Formats: sequence, structure tokens, C-alpha cells
Amino acid sequence: MLTIGTPFIFALAMAKKIIITIDGWSSCGKSTLAKQLAKKLNYIYVDSGAMYRAITLYFLRNNIDLEENEEIKQALKQISLEFHSNPNTQSSEIYLNGENVEYLIRDLLIAEKVSDVAAIKEVREFAVAQQQKMGDKKGIVMDGRDIGTTVFPDAELKIFMTADTAVRVERRFKELYAKNPNITIEEVKDNLEMRDYIDSNREISPLRKAEDAYILDNTHLTENQQFEKAMGWILSKIS
Ligand code: DC
Repeated sequence: MLTIGTPFIFALAMAKKIIITIDGWSSCGKSTLAKQLAKKLNYIYVDSGAMYRAITLYFLRNNIDLEENEEIKQALKQISLEFHSNPNTQSSEIYLNGENVEYLIRDLLIAEKVSDVAAIKEVREFAVAQQQKMGDKKGIVMDGRDIGTTVFPDAELKIFMTADTAVRVERRFKELYAKNPNITIEEVKDNLEMRDYIDSNREISPLRKAEDAYILDNTHLTENQQFEKAMGWILSKIS
């Protein structure tokens, strides 16, 4: 148990603002941990995957051909992404050209296409430039696949999360089933394995652990246990 009180942690985290990156496989709880840490430290939280999902939504709505570079470049010029805090839930939500798409982008239809979209060079350049800008003033927790390797290679704390596939499938299934009871566990497993494969084998910024990242395998950890572990690493960096 951490015995240091929240006001003291706030003070330390503000006095020495750092960048915390959380990368890892799909559905291993990156965003849950990132949100908890950001709240505890009073840092900004950025879900970089939401950016790739929102771009995918735009491409699907506008029938953008993923083989056509020029079409992609023109489409990206039409996209504006912003995060705003939801006053009811206090959590950060993504807006695509002014529309809150936080709920829409969690659909399996988006999950089926997002890894292909995220593998496109122009898309990555577009997203990475914005992500780096968000970290200008530090005091940020960002989760994704290439945050510790490409977006913030000099981040003070890098965490690489992993968990057994069966556990990850079960977690994602529960999440999606609540929205769509017709979904099957096989669909969820296929999608997760396909995304892991594409994300870790793409040419540009593939998912991999940064050499200086701490590994956090949460297969047998509770949310609280993983939070405490991460807070231990953070305290070693800010105190
Ligand atoms: O974290 P997520 O499942 O919402 O991410 C959606 C997809 O976006 C994921 O399959 C890979 C891609 N992604 C990426 O390539 N780079 C990131 N930094 C974040 C996500």
C-alpha cells in the first residue's frame, strides 16, 4: 500500500512534470491504468488509439480508398481531432470535426479496420505530430503502441503492458457484449489477434517494447495492484 497522500503526490508531480508512456497489446488495460494515473497526478491523459479510430471513422464515412495516397492526404487535411473532458464523467473524449465520436469509435466495425488505417505512413505522421505537440509541456500520460518508441522516445517513464490472450479476449468481450449482445467471443478473439498481428508487424513504428520500458504483465494482477506498481515507478522518477 502506498502511504504517501494525494496532495503530496500532486505537489511532486507538478514540481517535476514528466511524460509517462504506456504501450502494449490490445485490450490489456492500458487506458484504465493511464486514466487512473493521470487522475492521481493531475496530468493530461491522451488515448492515442482514439485518434486512429476517429480517423478510421472518417475514412469509412467518406469511402476513402486506403490504397490511394493522394486521396488519403486530402482526407487528412479535412480532419480535426480534439479531446474534451466530459463534465459528467470527468473523462476525456474525442471529437472529430466538432462531433463527439467517443462512443461510435468503440464499435467492432472500426476495430476491424483501424489497424490497416494506422499502418499508413501519412496517417501516422499526421497523428504523431499532434501527439508530440500535446506533450510539449509534459505532465501527460499517453497510451498506445508506439508512444515510448516513436512519439516520446525520451519519456521519463515508459511502461509496456501485456497479459495472456485469453484474459484480454475475456475483458474485451465483456466490454463489447454490454453494447451488443449479438457479439460472439470468437469474433472478439479473431479481431484482437488480427490487430495484434498487424500492429506488431507493420513497417512503420510497429508495436514493440522500448528498451528502457518497465514490463507490466497484469494477467494475475487486480486493477489496484497494477496501479500501485506503476505508482511505485512514478515516485522513483519524480521524487
Ligand atoms: O488502443 P486501441 O485499441 O484503441 O487502438 C486502436 C488501434 O490503433 C490499434 O489496433 C492500433 C492503433 N494504434 C497505433 O497504431 N498506434 C498507437 N499509438 C495507438 C493505436
